Amino acid sequence: MYLSTEAAQRHRARLANTLQTGDLVIIPAARLTTRNNDVHHRFRQDSDFYYLTAFPEPDAVAVIKKQKTTTTYILFVLPKNPEREVWDGYRCGTEGAVTEFDADKAYSVDELDEIMPNLIDGSTRVIYPMSDSSFDQRFSSWRKAVLAKVRLGAQCPATFINLGSIIHEQRLIKDDYELDLMERAGQISVAAHRAAMTAGKPGCSEHELEGLIEGEFRKAGAQRFAYPSIVAAGSNGCVLHYHDNDTRIENGDLLLIDAGCEYAGYASDITVTWPASGRFSDPQQRVYEAVLRVQQEVVDAVRPGATFNQLNTMACRGLLREMQELGLVDAHASIDELMEKQAYKPYYMHSIGHWIGMDVHDVGSYGTERKRPFEPGMVVTIEPGLYIPLDADDAPAELRGIAVRIEDDIAVTDHAPRNLTYGLPRSVDEIHRFMDETRAS
Ligand code: GLY
Ligand code: MN
Ligand code: MN
Repeated sequence: MYLSTEAAQRHRARLANTLQTGDLVIIPAARLTTRNNDVHHRFRQDSDFYYLTAFPEPDAVAVIKKQKTTTTYILFVLPKNPEREVWDGYRCGTEGAVTEFDADKAYSVDELDEIMPNLIDGSTRVIYPMSDSSFDQRFSSWRKAVLAKVRLGAQCPATFINLGSIIHEQRLIKDDYELDLMERAGQISVAAHRAAMTAGKPGCSEHELEGLIEGEFRKAGAQRFAYPSIVAAGSNGCVLHYHDNDTRIENGDLLLIDAGCEYAGYASDITVTWPASGRFSDPQQRVYEAVLRVQQEVVDAVRPGATFNQLNTMACRGLLREMQELGLVDAHASIDELMEKQAYKPYYMHSIGHWIGMDVHDVGSYGTERKRPFEPGMVVTIEPGLYIPLDADDAPAELRGIAVRIEDDIAVTDHAPRNLTYGLPRSVDEIHRFMDETRAS
């Protein structure tokens, strides 16, 4: 499943509404990158480019030129080449760029160096990605070509703007179509996690579950994972970015699995924690329920006007309250005193969440001190956790080696938060029942 050309058209129209007459926007596609020798990494389109074009091929460049009465959309694409297409597959070529992808005009990428200086000449502002150094060099050569002709009447733009500062703000607010794609991504991931919960018994290995989950993603039509899956048994869950995924799962282990697919260019990001045996031990249950209470409190606070800063404070205060109950921090100190000392840090060291969209850690400003107020159409992850390493000598012995994180993707709406990753058994009872029912059949 791919992003629809109608959606890309809507995104271009929204962008054009924010542009001024005389603006030129240049958006390069991603390029193939070498893995080794003549083998490439699997291609993934650049998110900004895909958002505005829905065009799936590498090496292209899109241009949007805003004039007084018209906005022109130009695509530079790899030209048709029967010989190359035998090896690399179909290219839609310049004709297809117009008929299939709605370009007003299309040229071969071979013509970029000739045509682009003419497009830049006379524009007042040029908006292009400044963070891509190889594209920046290329852009600089086009600008120089314009400057070289100033005495002949060429006009070099006076203002250059980073594409991200405009398009990333737009991408941060998702429309209903995008939210539905994100819900679909979320639901594919939920189904994959449910399959792993059914299959992940003691004796199987982390990598078997990784393969099972990613296989479920592909079976359901997702293109890929949105980030490398973390499948961590037992105390491996204390390593926040654990990727080895090579340990045998033992009876008594908790599984912490952080995995999400990318569907039609949109990410999902889910963490589940559950007992391989099908039953939480008493200490595991106490830590799990502590994190779940905090996660549910914070999810409910995902409303317009809230900020990551507030939610993070809420999570830290909630986790400190739970840590007092668990004997992880001083039970006699006030929460304010513990906050002052950041007493949660040994057991909760990341933040409560991030923007999510086409990129799992999505674009868009967080504001100073992460105090940007949430607005409808933004999507955030809420992912508190408690990680108690085996060598945490200050922690009660029975809690050592326990790692729990619970993560969902939540859309901000005018009303109640919309959970895009609903449908997982989350309470201890639900998990026990789910294990009993699915593993028995
Ligand atoms: N899976 C990456 C994250 O949770 O941020
Ligand atoms: Mn995650
Ligand atoms: Mn996340």
